Amino acid sequence: MTTFLSGKAKSAGVMGWPIGHSKSPRLHGYWLERYEIDGAYIPLAVNPDKLEVALRSLSVLGFCGVNLTIPHKELAMDIVDHLDPLARRVGAANTIVVRDDGSLEGRNTDVYGFSQNILTGDFMPAKEGFSATVLGAGGAARAVVAALQEMGVQDIRIVNRNQERAKALCETLTGCNSFSVFAWDDTQKAVAGADLLVNATSLGMQGQPPLDIDLTPLSQKAFVTDIVYAPLETSLLAAARARGLQVVDGLGMLLYQAAPAFAAWFGQTPEVTSALRAHVLGDNKP
Ligand SMILES: NC(=O)c1ccc[n+]([C@@H]2O[C@H](COP(=O)([O-])OP(=O)(O)OC[C@H]3O[C@@H](n4cnc5c(N)ncnc54)[C@H](OP(=O)(O)O)[C@@H]3O)[C@@H](O)[C@H]2O)c1
Repeated sequence: MTTFLSGKAKSAGVMGWPIGHSKSPRLHGYWLERYEIDGAYIPLAVNPDKLEVALRSLSVLGFCGVNLTIPHKELAMDIVDHLDPLARRVGAANTIVVRDDGSLEGRNTDVYGFSQNILTGDFMPAKEGFSATVLGAGGAARAVVAALQEMGVQDIRIVNRNQERAKALCETLTGCNSFSVFAWDDTQKAVAGADLLVNATSLGMQGQPPLDIDLTPLSQKAFVTDIVYAPLETSLLAAARARGLQVVDGLGMLLYQAAPAFAAWFGQTPEVTSALRAHVLGDNKP
């Protein structure tokens, strides 16, 4: 939040349950200060039972929008008045924009966030026969798969504990790609020869069990990325680095997904820089 707040300040925020772990207030607060914007970005702890009333209150309170995090991204789909085509396709909205008439528009910027993050890591997906293995089939995995489709990845292998959820993902995100679904116990088969491995489960996140898989079957030049960013260096990334594989951590996805939302609310396209990254990482408060 800037120190320049006036009575005309614009307000945005992030709704989640819980919300105390979120790095988004620190991230948007950095940009508000950097661009000297008369605005605020506030953490909002919203119980899922109260999501609809909270979203409907945004226009009443003069908010220009909010981000949504776990567990609201899919729930919001049935509440908002408008959905952009990507949010509709992915089945999840992580950004809400309050239109001038007070109606709510759901957007998905996680797809952009994932793509930008791996592309800045020199990821080159377009070669023929390229294969990607995605662990997970939740809201974040949907955004990852949609991003891989946009990049032209043809062979996408989904591994998930809950098979119905993985099949539902493939049905919604149909396209010209070839999907295969693997049981969690068959992870090794799904990883065999893959050029890209993405962890889009919550395994490896602080407070969750670690993700423990053998990386030997991956292609020797494989690229490994984890969308978990707390801790920044997950055991998956450490193991991949030890094998000499190319690695990109998950913090960049958070930074890049925030940029189009900030631009929509505050009218300024912000830059993702190493100073921003250092600022967000400097948050050691509980
Ligand atoms: N870097 C970023 O900007 C960014 C953005 C979004 C999310 N994330 C992170 O991504 C992670 C997933 O988020 P989400 O929104 O997709 O959550 P979600 O919808 O709750 O999905 C969680 C996924 O993890 C799997 N999973 C959970 N526990 C497991 C276990 N013990 N064994 C195997 N699989 C397990 C679930 O499998 P089942 O379907 O079988 O339950 C599901 O595929 C979270 O850590 C979140 O913080 C990061």
